[in-house]
Amino acid sequence: MFDLHKSSLVQTRALIDGKWCAADTQKTFAVKNPATGEVVAQVADLGVNETRRAITAAARSQATWAKKTAKERSQLLRGWFDLVIQHQEDLAQILTLEQGKPLAEARSEIAYGASYIEWFAEQAKRIYGDVIAPPSADQRILVIKQPVGVVAAITPWNFPCAMLARKIAPALAAGCTIVAKPASETPLSALAIAFLSMEAGIPAGVINIVTGTDSAAIGAELTGNPLVRKLSFTGSTVVGKQLIQQCAADVKRITLELGGNAPFIVFDDADLDAAVAGAMDSKFRNAGQTCVCANRFYIHRSVYAQFSEKLIVAMKALSVGNGADVSVNLGPLISAKAVDKVQTLVDEAISKGAHIGYQATLDTASVEQGYFYPPTLLLNVAPESELTCQEIFGPVAALIPFETDEEAIYLANNTEFGLASYCYTRDAKRINNLSDMLETGMLGINTGLISNEMAPFGGIKQSGWGREGSHYGIDDYVNIKYLCERF
Ligand code: SIN
Repeated sequence: MFDLHKSSLVQTRALIDGKWCAADTQKTFAVKNPATGEVVAQVADLGVNETRRAITAAARSQATWAKKTAKERSQLLRGWFDLVIQHQEDLAQILTLEQGKPLAEARSEIAYGASYIEWFAEQAKRIYGDVIAPPSADQRILVIKQPVGVVAAITPWNFPCAMLARKIAPALAAGCTIVAKPASETPLSALAIAFLSMEAGIPAGVINIVTGTDSAAIGAELTGNPLVRKLSFTGSTVVGKQLIQQCAADVKRITLELGGNAPFIVFDDADLDAAVAGAMDSKFRNAGQTCVCANRFYIHRSVYAQFSEKLIVAMKALSVGNGADVSVNLGPLISAKAVDKVQTLVDEAISKGAHIGYQATLDTASVEQGYFYPPTLLLNVAPESELTCQEIFGPVAALIPFETDEEAIYLANNTEFGLASYCYTRDAKRINNLSDMLETGMLGINTGLISNEMAPFGGIKQSGWGREGSHYGIDDYVNIKYLCERF
C-alpha cells in the first residue's frame, strides 16, 4: 500500500519520551483511506494512563529544553525542517493515503507545514524582551519572555501535518515541550513528522504524540492535568467551548482556531476571471474541508449570471477521484458522515428555494467505495439557509445575489464566526471600507489564498483566540515577566 523511500516513516505506535509505545491494553484502531475505505494501518489506541505518562515526560524534559540557547533550539528546528522537506514525497504519500487529498495538494501541505518549522526556527532567536522607562530615576523596568511550560495540542484531520507543525514549532522555539493528540482519522502524518524530529536530534520527551480514539478521555487529561500549562486546539467551535470550560479549572492558557463561515464577496467592478480563479482556490482546496474555505458567495446582482457561468466552466475542469491518481484534483471527504452532512445541507437549501446550477457526475466505478461528494453549485440560495450559518466542509458553492455594499457587509457579518473573508473589487475606497467593516480575523482582497507562515492566522468572535504563524505566533507560547529593579 505504501511505496516509500523511507519505510520507517510509517509508525503505528505513539511517541512518549522518545520511545514508540503500544497502548497499555494493546488495543489498536484502524486508519482508513477515505478514497477506498481500505484499512491503511492499525494504530495504538491510547487512553488516560499513557497520556499522563506523556505529560510527565514532557514536564521532565521542559527545564533542559528551555535551558538550551535560542540558537541551539533554532538549529534543531532547522534540521527538522530540512528532513521534512527531504522526505516531502513520502510524507505526501502518507498524507494522501490517510486523508484523501490529491497528491499535489498533499505535497503543498507538507511544504506548508514545513514552512512553519522553518519560520519558527528563525523566530526562536528573535524572542525579545523590553526595557521600559521607569517612573523614578533609581528604577529600571525590564521585561523578559519565558516559555509557558508544557503545551498540549489537539489537531484536526483536514491538515494533519500543517496544523501540527504550526503548534509544535512555535512551542519548541519558545522553549516549551509538547504533548500532541492528532485526529484519529489521520495519526500517521503526525507520527511520521515526529519520527523525523527525533532523527533531527530533538531530544526525547520534547515532542510526544498520543494517538487514540477516546478523544474525550484524552482531552480531559490534557486539559485537567496541572502539569499542562497551555492548550492549543484547532477544530470545531462546539469542542472549543468545551475545552475552554475544561481549561478554566486551573486557568490554562488557550489558543483556539475554531470554525469559520467565510463570505466571498464579488462586487460589480471586480475582475471576474480573477474572482473565479480565487473562488476555485478558496472553495475547492482540500475538497472544501478547510476552516478558511469560502462558505457563502455573495455576488453583486449585475455580475451574478456572468460569475456563475464562469464558475461552472471552471468547476467542470475538476477531476474527482482517488488522490493518489495524479490526474485527480478533488479528493474524497473524510467520512461517510461528512458526505451525509453535506447532502443534508444541500437538501435544506433546496427546500428553501435554491436550485442546482451545476453538479458533476461522478464516475461510479472509481468512487464506489470512497466518501465522495460531487462539486456542486447552488444558485439563488436563501440567505437564511442552514449552509450559510454553518461550515459546509464540502465542495459546494452557494451563491447569493446582493445589491448594495451595505447589504453585502451586513450579510457577511451576520454570523457568529469571524475567521476569514474574501472580497473582489478594484475600488480602493471600497477596499478601505471593507477592511474596516468586515468582522473577520483575516481578509483576502482580490485573492482566495491567504494562508502562509509569515502571516497571523486566526479569528475573532466564535472563531477563536490567538494567532498562529507570523511574529505574533510566538506570543501564545511565552509568559511575560516584569522585573522591577531598584538601585
Ligand atoms: C484550517 O482549515 O484549519 C487551516 C487551513 C489553513 O491553514 O489554511
